[in-house]
Amino acid sequence: MNSLTISPVFSPDSEAVLYEGDCLDLLRTIPDETFQLIVTSPPYNLNKPYETKLDLEEYVSGQKMVITECVRALLPQGSICWQIGNYVDNGRIIPLDILLYPIFADLGLKLRNRIVWHFGHGLHASRRFSGRYEVILWFTKQDDYKFNLDAVRVPQKYPQKKHFKGPKRGEYSGNPLGKNPTDIWEIPNVKSNHVEKTEHPAQFPVELVERLVLAFTDERDWVFDPFLGSGTTLIAALMHSRKAAGAEIMPEYVRIARERLQLAEKGQLRIRPMEREVYDPEAPGNNLPPKFVDLGQPAQQRLLFEDRSAYLEEQNIFLPCRSK
Ligand SMILES: C[S@@+](CC[C@H](N)C(=O)[O-])C[C@H]1O[C@@H](n2cnc3c(N)ncnc32)[C@H](O)[C@@H]1O
Repeated sequence: MNSLTISPVFSPDSEAVLYEGDCLDLLRTIPDETFQLIVTSPPYNLNKPYETKLDLEEYVSGQKMVITECVRALLPQGSICWQIGNYVDNGRIIPLDILLYPIFADLGLKLRNRIVWHFGHGLHASRRFSGRYEVILWFTKQDDYKFNLDAVRVPQKYPQKKHFKGPKRGEYSGNPLGKNPTDIWEIPNVKSNHVEKTEHPAQFPVELVERLVLAFTDERDWVFDPFLGSGTTLIAALMHSRKAAGAEIMPEYVRIARERLQLAEKGQLRIRPMEREVYDPEAPGNNLPPKFVDLGQPAQQRLLFEDRSAYLEEQNIFLPCRSK
């Protein structure tokens, strides 16, 4: 990609769409069966600066309208990922995936995984256990769906392990391409000291969306986020040479998204690399530093299990203490 043109409205020829307004208005302009992946984190009805707290029934029916339009705009082999946490009312929690699951099921979608996104930081509760996970509901439209597992494999814990008996004795027992990342993902959330933090109060990390983009799409496929916020989904999709569209209703967040895209185009947007492991206080020197997104360069798709030295060389980074 040489120069990124960000279109304010959808057209099938565009590469990137940043729509300022209500996602339903954008969705109504999208032809049936356009998007390969729809990934989003909707408002949780928590009275954040970008939402008005609604009666729960009203909230669910608003979500139903958006989900119904998304399903219409999804390709037959496509995936929808709804990233959600808890609705909290006076200390009582209602997991939103419980409330929203029936909407997807009634539309004929099939749940493939309920991915648990586990993170280390958040509010400290005193009258219940502190919440440290949210979920991603991954649905497909049909049984024949795109799933690139090899693109998101992670390193084997014991790569040298071999079969010790039977006909495969002496051969490596694990998949040489790495192991399935499972349905529990340990990824730091975007708190104040996170390299990706903007003024948006509820960003999700680029690496979370990257894994979904790599697993469920190929280059040139369309990725869509109806509740775009600070533009995270656009960045994760465009950096892997997918086409990407998103809607955001608040002008200040559209501005942030645009600024992030411009930085990415100049090779100046810093993100937490998905190859980086969760911080280990016992081995702080092993942490990979932030990497720069460069939308001007060819696709940056790499397998998660790739040797970290390749990453370090590419980024011109020298660490005094390297480990694999
Ligand atoms: C949880 S945030 C998403 C944050 C995003 N994942 C990120 O990484 O920045 C939800 C966003 O949806 C936006 N929003 C709420 N209602 C909307 C609507 N009807 N159409 C488009 N955007 C909407 C809010 O302004 C907010 O930025």
